[in-house]
Amino acid sequence: MTRPDTQLQAAFAEQFGGSSFTHMVRAPGRVNLMGDHTDYNGLPVVPMAIQRGLTLVSRLRKDGEICIANTDPRFPPRSFELTGDIDPFPGGDWGNYAKAAGQALAQRYGPLAGFDAVVSSDIPIAAGLSSSSALVMAVALMIVDLNDVAIGAAQLMELIAEAERYVGTRGGGMDQAICLGAQPGSASRIDFNPLRLTPIPIPNGWRFIVAFSGIRAEKSGATRRVYNQRTRECEEALRRVATALGLGEAVSYPGLMSGMPVADLLAAAEGVLEESLFPRFRHVVTEATRVTSAEVALKADDIAGFGKLMNLSHQSLRDDFAVSCAALDQLTAVALGAGVAGARLTGAGFGGCVVALSPATEVERVLHRLEREYYIAAGCEGELGDSLFVAQPSGGASVVEL
Ligand code: GLA
Repeated sequence: MTRPDTQLQAAFAEQFGGSSFTHMVRAPGRVNLMGDHTDYNGLPVVPMAIQRGLTLVSRLRKDGEICIANTDPRFPPRSFELTGDIDPFPGGDWGNYAKAAGQALAQRYGPLAGFDAVVSSDIPIAAGLSSSSALVMAVALMIVDLNDVAIGAAQLMELIAEAERYVGTRGGGMDQAICLGAQPGSASRIDFNPLRLTPIPIPNGWRFIVAFSGIRAEKSGATRRVYNQRTRECEEALRRVATALGLGEAVSYPGLMSGMPVADLLAAAEGVLEESLFPRFRHVVTEATRVTSAEVALKADDIAGFGKLMNLSHQSLRDDFAVSCAALDQLTAVALGAGVAGARLTGAGFGGCVVALSPATEVERVLHRLEREYYIAAGCEGELGDSLFVAQPSGGASVVEL
């Protein structure tokens, strides 16, 4: 882990009266390669952590207060008491992500000592690259480390996934798991209930390009309503299909899928789900099969095969799950026109980023085409580094004492 930069040192000294910090957490953002809107249905995903991340530096306090500042002036300093029952700031406030981690840990392990901290991040905000989960995980790791809380990695991932619902989104567990459990050079297949991460090395000649559509999708903002609506639709579809098949209420998506081939399941579901719910159900179960095929393609260094699965995934997210938008569709079309192996929206959708797979030998050419045909065509000028970059498969979050 690199040492904190001088900007962080100056920000900490200014905020907390000249003294220095003692601990640092680095928590990465992520790009999801396959399996979107499957995690909260208990079905697997294949994300990887990226080189862009969040750094949190801190020093233990003698009381139970958390005082946290941000080098980004859009996020003013926040402080709160670390207890098991913390009133949220108004909706959309960045401090709620810190409160989410604090409340969950205090409920189980309190009373806990707080800390003074400064955060700095180079993960584009509200771009579907998990900047918020990186913050929740960084705060959680810092609390755990400074208080010597005895909690295992899987337990912490699950606790923090649950904790993040504090901001009102009924998300799954992908972001928190990959943020903590990623291995450098690899993507990970993540299975749920119980949570397991299996690293899958990214073949040498593959490059995943991340391209931001320019449409922000704020998890704690307007996106939340549609996201939560999708989670409810998935639950409702599961309940109805399970009832029609004579299975109990307790059956899960993985349980349903292990019981019969996908084609038979879809045939049964089509008869009992009305027009709006059937496509949602079809996306979930077919996306789960694409995760398994994607894992096979990765292991076999089959770039064309993986690319085809990405294209099918995008179509399914767009047509069946209805979480794409014109900008994401256009961006995937430009990438495909530039000759990538495949491209899909990544994360929740409704804006955010596209991920495209290119052979390393072609990547510069593809980046130029995207720059010219998407960004410059839309009037973007100047440095595109925050919007268009090659993702490097990176390691998970960790804390160091300085
Ligand atoms: C968001 C959520 C994740 C997952 C994705 C969609 O990023 O935080 O848990 O549901 O959307 O795959």
